[in-house]
Amino acid sequence: MTDTPARPRPKAGILDITAYVGGKATAEGFAEPMKLSSNENALGCSPLASQAYAAIADKLHLYPDGHCKALREAIAQKFGLEPDRLIFTAGSDEIFDLLSQTYLEPGDNAVQGEFGFLSYRIAVRAAQGVIRFAPEPNRRIDVDLILAEVDDRTRIVFIANPGNPTGSWINGPDIRRLHEALPTDVILVLDGAYAEFCDDPEFEDGIELARSASNIIVTRTFSKLHGLAALRVGWAYCPVEMVDAMDRIRSPFNVNAPAQAAALAALNDEAFVQRSLEHVRQWRSWLAQQLGGMGLETYPSAANFVLVRFPNSPGLTARDAEAFLAARGIIVRGVGGYGLPDSLRITVGLEPENRAVIEALAQFFKG
Ligand SMILES: Cc1ncc(COP(=O)(O)O)c(C=O)c1O
Repeated sequence: MTDTPARPRPKAGILDITAYVGGKATAEGFAEPMKLSSNENALGCSPLASQAYAAIADKLHLYPDGHCKALREAIAQKFGLEPDRLIFTAGSDEIFDLLSQTYLEPGDNAVQGEFGFLSYRIAVRAAQGVIRFAPEPNRRIDVDLILAEVDDRTRIVFIANPGNPTGSWINGPDIRRLHEALPTDVILVLDGAYAEFCDDPEFEDGIELARSASNIIVTRTFSKLHGLAALRVGWAYCPVEMVDAMDRIRSPFNVNAPAQAAALAALNDEAFVQRSLEHVRQWRSWLAQQLGGMGLETYPSAANFVLVRFPNSPGLTARDAEAFLAARGIIVRGVGGYGLPDSLRITVGLEPENRAVIEALAQFFKG
């Protein structure tokens, strides 16, 4: 009898993780489908960012600056922050991994809302932590329900504000109340991937609160407002001790050179930023109004997408609508993986895309 040779085995818990599945990018039969599935910027990116990216083309043999010095200084200046309290990552996703690996011991837990962003649970479980989910009544974060999940093994609380895929947000006073009630050794992550799109006057992105807190990290990304999702640039603001700890395990050249150059240029293109914000505000409310006009329930959104709920009747479900749209070259995001199988998330697109998705849905309901 021959022994089967031993094979490499992933550590405990890895095979229990469900891999992240991004928004679909293809629709059969369409070379260039309308992609409204990943909350990308409908207007593209700043032309200055594209130029800066292209200008690096003859320097690809050089390692990037591992400390993102130019980008660090520019962000510090723009937001009035201390440069040594910033950390840069390959997309803001990477910061969730760094946090989990740095702060979670096996069996520690992290808390998030039940419909919260999928990357948090992956990062936590990969670090052999336990993820706990607080209910989100009406698809909104409830501070008291988050706090009810916190116990003496909790090390991190993740709040995306606004949230993905709900688009809902919580205002400054609630964030402050949450922070005050948390033990000071629990890290509060305020994920601001969509923060710029929120125009509620009571909204706070958390940076002011983080200035004087010893346990808050505010994360931001160049993927959404700045339209640089392909390049993977994120940054975070937190106490210098947290930067120091995470820097010890951060991959040394995690943000590549063209990405740093393009992000720096994007940061300075205020005209593009304003155009993007105005576009989202205008078409987000138009989409919500049109969907509401069809009798569908939408949820107030402070992000660059709208979450819409479909009926449970056979032939009219979210799944049916997703397939109907895909057959017409329109890709939206099914959010069953987030525990919302009755809904679709539709990214604000260009005007013809927004009109096309509404016209197609009108046909869908006409049968
Ligand atoms: C709430 C939220 N946070 C963070 C991210 C990560 O963005 P990135 O890794 O592109 O910076 C996303 C991406 O969709 C998101 O929706």
